Formats: sequence, structure tokens, C-alpha cells
Amino acid sequence: MSLRAVLVGCGRMGGFIDDELVGRPDFVPPYCHAGAYLAADGVSLVAAADIVPEKAVALAEKWAVPKTYVDYRDMIQEERPDIVSVTTRPDTHAEVAIFAAENGARAVYCEKPMCCSMEEADAIRAACEKHGVVLNLGSSRRYQEAFWRIREQVTEGVIGDVQLVVSYSSGGALWTHTHTTDILLFLAGDPTVVSAQGAADLKPEERGAAGLERDPQILSAAFEFGNGVRGVMTRCAGYEFEVHGSRGKIRTRGNGHAFETHVFDEHGRATSANFPAWARSTGSVNCIHDLVSAIKDGTTPIGGVDVAVRGQEMSMAVVESERRDGARVQLPLGDRSLYVRGW
Ligand SMILES: NC(=O)c1ccc[n+]([C@@H]2O[C@H](COP(=O)([O-])OP(=O)(O)OC[C@H]3O[C@@H](n4cnc5c(N)ncnc54)[C@H](O)[C@@H]3O)[C@@H](O)[C@H]2O)c1
Repeated sequence: MSLRAVLVGCGRMGGFIDDELVGRPDFVPPYCHAGAYLAADGVSLVAAADIVPEKAVALAEKWAVPKTYVDYRDMIQEERPDIVSVTTRPDTHAEVAIFAAENGARAVYCEKPMCCSMEEADAIRAACEKHGVVLNLGSSRRYQEAFWRIREQVTEGVIGDVQLVVSYSSGGALWTHTHTTDILLFLAGDPTVVSAQGAADLKPEERGAAGLERDPQILSAAFEFGNGVRGVMTRCAGYEFEVHGSRGKIRTRGNGHAFETHVFDEHGRATSANFPAWARSTGSVNCIHDLVSAIKDGTTPIGGVDVAVRGQEMSMAVVESERRDGARVQLPLGDRSLYVRGW
């Protein structure tokens, strides 16, 4: 029997972002949640909610969704969905995800960033654990085959022991870099995070503030993971990753469009190794299939709530490091109250 899904937030990522991505080779449609449900197997999108009724109606017309609501609480209580997509802006992710978990949902597909503070992240995790709910974030690269091939090469030891994972990208700590922290974690084997040290573009008056009404840029960061791997985040154009091992390295090119594996010989000369074949596929549909499989077959999700909390905490810790004049901060963060609006 097909699972029932509902969607909260009928904006770009809910139903319309594919219109912006036409002609972008680095994106495989459908990217928005509504389109992805239509393309996915084993699940149907039965309703969508938005506080702006016209937006819900427009999304429903575009993706043949049978019903719309203004209040997501009414929708979840009436439709009793298996999966709830949270595609509102970050400041409402926690309240929607927690309501879904407390009202019968079995899985939450929450857009990144997970939320705006570690207190919110802890509350989402607690609700998921209490009610046995699976949660995946919309950090879509984790659900793309090419990144699975990288991790397989790493696991097979092609580049030796992993020592360092690096990202090259720029953007806000939460809006963009929860994508980045998610892939740094994924490439490092999803370890725990021991410490973070970094720089963000905080204004002097923001340093002591209890909350930030915007999403600061991360300028650079260094992370220490529980399995001994180190992570580095550098600010530059493009969106690339590298995994460095004791015998070689793997690089992404063109934001997930091409991949290179280099293995060093005994003289330290890099020789190219084949990067395995991979099919271009949409991370959004793969993420939904991962949740369907977790619900139906009890499989462990590729993402999951613990990894979501870790990725959120890496970004928050860089902001905290900047607030402490670049100090190395230990994780988990002691004070979890810092609020960052996320856009
Ligand atoms: N995975 C990705 O690559 C990707 C890309 C873009 C955006 N996103 C994420 O998707 C989320 C949404 O971003 P967006 O650009 O689509 O925003 P958006 O502003 O286009 O859409 C948000 C929608 O939520 C609605 N909304 C607000 N409060 C609501 C509530 N209480 N109940 C129901 N609806 C409510 C708004 O009216 C709006 O239509 C963000 O967290 C963003 O980071 C992810």
C-alpha cells in the first residue's frame, strides 16, 4: 500500500524551485518536494499547507495534489500522514517537525537547515526518539549516487586511511553550510564531532547578542572528528569537496558533475584511478525512497536525526567560535541557546 505524505510550506523548495534550475547541469529534476513525491515509488502526496492559501493552491495545481490547507496542524490531524515534508523557512522547522512527530507521522523530510538553535535541534531529536520517527534533512548531495560511490571508494580503502575532508564553497552558516557540514560528515564516515574553530562575518554588536537576525557567512573553519579525521571549510567560489587519504584523494568537480580519484605511487606521484560509474539521479527522490524504506522495511536511514543534529552543531559551533574570538570550541556545545535566524 502506498504511504501518505503531506507538505508544509508551498514556496520554492516545496513546489517551484525546479523552474529556477532549468539548464543547470548540476541539478537533476525533480528537486522540489512536491515534484519528488510525484516521481517517487510507494508514496503519494495527499495534501499541502501554506499560510498563504494561494500558494498552496498553486502548488496543488502544478503537482496534482488533491487537497490544500491553511493550517498545517489541521492537515496533519485530518490526513494522518506517514511522511511530513517541512519546506517552510528555518524558523518554523522545529515547531512543524515536533508537531508532526507528536501527531502520528512516521517520518519527517525536513529541509535544511534543521532549525535555528541547538535547543531546537535537541527538541526535534527528543520528539523523534520518543515517537520512533525517522528524520532526513534535505541536504540533497547525501542522497546522490556519486557521493555514495565516493564513500564506497573510501570504505574500500582506495585512498588509504582517510585523514582530511575539505569543502570549497561560500555562503551562510545555516542556509548554505548545513549542506557543507552534512557532506563533510558523510565523507568522514558520519563521525561524532569533537571540536570546531572558525571565523564568521559577525558585526561587533552581534558578538554578545543572544540571537542573530541573519545568517552570517562562514569565512573558514576547522573541525576535529571523533574518528581522528580532520575537516576544513574554505570560503571560495564553486561548491566542491575533497577527501584526502594516506594513499590518495578524491575530488568533486562542477558541483557534483564530475569526480576524480588520484592514488599516489611509492614515489609520491599521483596516478589517476578510475572513478566508478554512477547514474545521475535526483537526491530529493532518493531521500524520499530512503524514508519509505525506513518505514516499510525498518532500514537505517542514510541521514537520520543524529547526523542532522551534528551538521547543525558544526555550523553553530563556528559562529560560537567567532563569538569567542576564534577559540576552539568543544562539542557538544554547553550553552545551546544561541539563535541564528538562518537566512
Ligand atoms: N535543499 C536545497 O537545496 C534547498 C534549496 C532551497 C531552499 N531550501 C530550504 O527550503 C526551505 C524553504 O525555503 P524556500 O526558499 O522554499 O522558502 P519560501 O519562502 O519560498 O517558501 C516557504 C513557504 O512557507 C510558507 N510558510 C511560512 N510559515 C508557514 C506555516 N507556519 N505553515 C505553512 N506554511 C508556511 C510561506 O508562506 C512560503 O510559501 C528553507 O529551509 C531553505 O533553506 C533548500
